Amino acid sequence: MKKVLVLNGPNLNMLGRRDPSVYGSDTLDAIREETDAAVRPCGILTEWRQSNSEAEIVEWLQTTDADAIVLNAGAFTHYSLAIHDALEILTVPKIELHISNVFAREEYRRHSVLSDACTAVIAGLGKAGYRYAVLAAAERA
Ligand code: DQA
Repeated sequence: MKKVLVLNGPNLNMLGRRDPSVYGSDTLDAIREETDAAVRPCGILTEWRQSNSEAEIVEWLQTTDADAIVLNAGAFTHYSLAIHDALEILTVPKIELHISNVFAREEYRRHSVLSDACTAVIAGLGKAGYRYAVLAAAERA
């Protein structure tokens, strides 16, 4: 059984209410349930966490015992060198995930400071991205 930590950063607790034309109308809980139902039969165990705090995300990355990580760092993606450095220390597969296609949005979303510390990047697939990211993370583990 592979364990994948699915980490979500700031404002992802607002999914469902947050700009549904960009992020869809599902809550993070609903996405978690749908993702888990799809990946569990593949022998994948997930642990989901969300925080609006950079420090908390860094601590979770430092202390995880997961076999692989999926990280939607929200806006931290674009400027958090602390999360970048925590990712660099981790040797397990790490998938950077975005619900929206950040490359087709505002200029300031087109650059990620995390990508070079990650195994792969998935963006623009909506909530299905979580499923693909978890499957890819577990396969690489
Ligand atoms: C996001 C994209 C980020 O630019 C934004 O700050 C988010 C969500 C996404 O999932 O598309 O909070 O990571």
